[in-house]
Order: sequence, then C-alpha cells, then structure tokens
Amino acid sequence: MRLSRRHFLYSALTAGAAAALPSALFSGCTVASGAGRANSAVTRGTVRQFALPSEATFPKGFFWGTATASYQIEGAWKEDGKGESIWDRFAHTPGKIKNGDTGDVACDSYHRWQEDIALIRAMNLNSYRFSISWPRVQPSGSGTVNSNGVDYYSRLVDGLLEARIRPLVTLFHWDLPQMLQDAGGWPNRDTAARFADYVQVVARALGDRVSDWMLFNEPDAFVEVGYLEGMHAPGHKSLLDFLRATHVVNLAQGAGFRALKAVRPAARVGTAFSMSPCEPATDSEEDKLAAERAHAITNTWFLEPALRGRYADALTFLPETAMGIKSGDMEKTRAPLDFIGINLYYRTIASAVGTIERATHTQEWLFPVKMDGGREGPRTDIGWEVWPKALYDMVTRITRDYNRPVIEITESGCAYNDGPNEAGVIHDARRISYHRDYLAALSQAMVEGADVRGYHVWSLLDNFEWAEGFSQRFGVTYVDFRTQKRTIKDSGRWYAKVAAENGISALS
Ligand code: FCB
Repeated sequence: MRLSRRHFLYSALTAGAAAALPSALFSGCTVASGAGRANSAVTRGTVRQFALPSEATFPKGFFWGTATASYQIEGAWKEDGKGESIWDRFAHTPGKIKNGDTGDVACDSYHRWQEDIALIRAMNLNSYRFSISWPRVQPSGSGTVNSNGVDYYSRLVDGLLEARIRPLVTLFHWDLPQMLQDAGGWPNRDTAARFADYVQVVARALGDRVSDWMLFNEPDAFVEVGYLEGMHAPGHKSLLDFLRATHVVNLAQGAGFRALKAVRPAARVGTAFSMSPCEPATDSEEDKLAAERAHAITNTWFLEPALRGRYADALTFLPETAMGIKSGDMEKTRAPLDFIGINLYYRTIASAVGTIERATHTQEWLFPVKMDGGREGPRTDIGWEVWPKALYDMVTRITRDYNRPVIEITESGCAYNDGPNEAGVIHDARRISYHRDYLAALSQAMVEGADVRGYHVWSLLDNFEWAEGFSQRFGVTYVDFRTQKRTIKDSGRWYAKVAAENGISALS
C-alpha cells in the first residue's frame, strides 16, 4: 500500500530498512534553526469534517483537467528508439509489481493518443496534464536525442491545441533513464546537470506551443519510495541514498528551472508536490511538534529550498555531510516557481516517537515522527481515507504561508474498482461524490482567498498504478486492458457537466 510513503521513516524503520548509520555520516551537521517551533495555525486534535457548500461556481477560465503519466499509460516501452527506464527494469524484475504486471503496454496511449484526446474533448475539459518520458526523448539520459520520441510529444501537443485543450507538461514523472541510474541515479550529483540538459531539449522542441510546465512530479514520493522504502523503482532501501537524492533533486529543481527559463523566458514553471495536511494525533505538545515536522518533510522539503533557499525544519538537525550539501548549494536550489502544483489525496496524522525508539534508531532520532492515514472517513479500494477537508486545509495553509501563490491542483482522485454492468455502463457513484466533495472544499478555500487556477482529476484513464499494477482503477474512463476499449464512466459524464457549467450545482 503506497500510503506507507506517508509514514516512511516509521515504516522503513520498523521494517529494518535502514541500518543504524555511523555517526560519522553526520559530521558537519548544523542544528536546524527554529526546529520544533509550534505553529498555532495547525488544526488541532481530531478534526471533524466541516459543512461543505453544495454549490460552487469557479472563476471564468478555470482549468478543468485530467492527469496521466508516461509510464502509467503509454506502453511502447521499447518502440521507436526509446531507451530503458528504471520502471521498465523494475517492473521486469519478478516480485516487484502486484500480479507481475508491467507498463509494457499499459493503456497503449503511445498509439491511441488521438482516441485519448477525443475522450478529453468529450468531457469538455480544457486542460490535460501528461508527462514526458525522458528515455523516449534521450534514450541514455544524456546526449543523443531520439527524434521519434520528440515527434510523438509534438504530435500530442498539436492535437491538444487543435482540440483547444491546454497541454500541462510534467518533465519528470518517475521514469528515469536506466543508464543514469546505472551511473548512480538521483543520489548522484551529476544527475542534476543531466536533468537540466534534458529540460532544455524538451523546452526547445515544444516550448513554442507549451507554456505551462512542471519540473517534477512528487519529488518526495519518488526519492522516498524509490530510495528509502524500496517499493518503487529503483528499489533501494538506503537512508543515505534517500538523503542524498533529496538534495540532488532540489539542486535539479533549481537547475531545471533556470535551464527552462533560459530558452523560454515566458514559460510558467512549477512542480507538482505531493501534499497532505498533517494533524497531531492528540493535543500534546509532542504530537503538535511532530505534526509540524511531518508538514515540513511531507509538504515543504522540496518547496522551501526552491522558494527560500533553505531546508524546512523537519529533522532534529540537518545532516549536511550525509546529504552531500556543499557550500553555495542552497543558492542553487532556488527556483522562484510561477505556480505551486498540489497533488492531494488524503490527510496525515502525526504523533511523536517514544524516547526508547528514538534512542535506539538513527532514523527515528533524526526524524522523530510517526505518520499514518486518518481513520474516520470512508476508504477507497486502495485504502486511502476520503477526507475532503484535507484539500481545504492544505490549500489555505500554503496560501497563508507562501503569500498567496498561484496554485494548480495537479492531481486528486480515488481508486474504486467498479466495472461495467451487463449494459456496459460503469456506475461509479463513489467517485462522483469524492470529486464533488473535494471540489466543494476547494471552492471554500478559494472563497477565503486562495488563488487556484485549475483542478486535475487523477486520472483520465484506469492505468498502471505503480507497485499495485492494474489492480487499482483511478480513471474517469474505464479501460479494458485486454482489448484497450475505453468507456467513459458515470463520473466522467458528471465531470463533463461540471466543466461545462464551470462549477458544481446541487443537482449535478
Ligand atoms: C500519485 C502519483 C500518480 C498516481 C496517483 C494515484 O501519487 O503522482 O502517478 O499514481 O498517486
């Protein structure tokens, strides 16, 4: 269950994933200034759902969209000169993915992209968030560009623009070229420079038509689940790799931002951060402090370096040597993002770690927080709690803490495995109620001043859900993976109405 990424240090520790680190790793550490400051704005104790508005109109020009990612939908894993990615390698390794599934074919969107654009059109949507597969564009991760790969994305962009759909492009949604992983992957500092080169290749090729970009999708998730928990590619279980990777990705975010602006100064550039409001499990001072630390690592570990050139106060101190932080680095991590992308599914409940656990485990000593999902709301099929207020809480907090930035909801969604009935219709009422309630919560945050420009349902299609394979269906379109037949679910029809009416109404 990928919820584990939300209590990563706890789960990794109990799984014994990280052996106690030699203290020498932490030489050169500085105590994070203000670590542990309590923030009175944090919601307290057990939070009840609030009354959701039953109707809401969104501002004119609001972006209604869906989101996907290359490895999850494209297939064609070795066609037309594409290089191998870490997800190809990982999924081909027995035992890594549920039921032995792979993304070799996935939704075959590489060949069916026109059909997919037609679905987006049928839903009246004006934005489509998709990602570029780095090894499709640069098979070895550096140097030679594969023109077939570039052409594919170029055709996709043209098709979207023709259909009056805004392309919202993610440059990295987890499928690192395997050759870069062989050279050390994200823990290797050189990867930041490779990323900046790749960003320029894509920006040069598509930037005449694409204006809105995201450098990364959920940096915290791919470094944590990939390098610490080992449940995602490349499958490492190393605290040291995790710490180094977080810093290199922050450097890459700064370098990628500058690289993109250098060739396309007018581009709007953000990152899609995985966010979740962190509530203290109880009213104790220890749990409140734990919740602030959880917020810092979950929500702002990759945002503070970009916007403020510093690491958030998440850890008891900053292990500079272990992270590979060099003098002058924090200036390099700066990236004045034009917008903040928020991927949000659920809330997090944080509690303090006991003294004995802290004393005996390096990881819990460094990050003394346990994180878990909430247990009051209903659960989706993947086990994530449905908690619309989480979106309100997160958006209002980011609005307050970062001086009302431009926000896009780059993902939200739910896994329900409803399938077609005898008539071939997919009645997924729970998905409709999920999105209706999350949108109502979002509209409340906007009424209170948040500057939110768009909402992207995860996902356009049922697709390859990482370690869960095809067992979890998040789509507003049903995909029969044997035939690749696509059928818009009830939720997709409902979403089409929302987009057409630019809001939710009591009747919709
Ligand atoms: C997000 C990922 C996305 C998808 C959804 C369910 O964390 O960004 O690729 O897997 O979860």
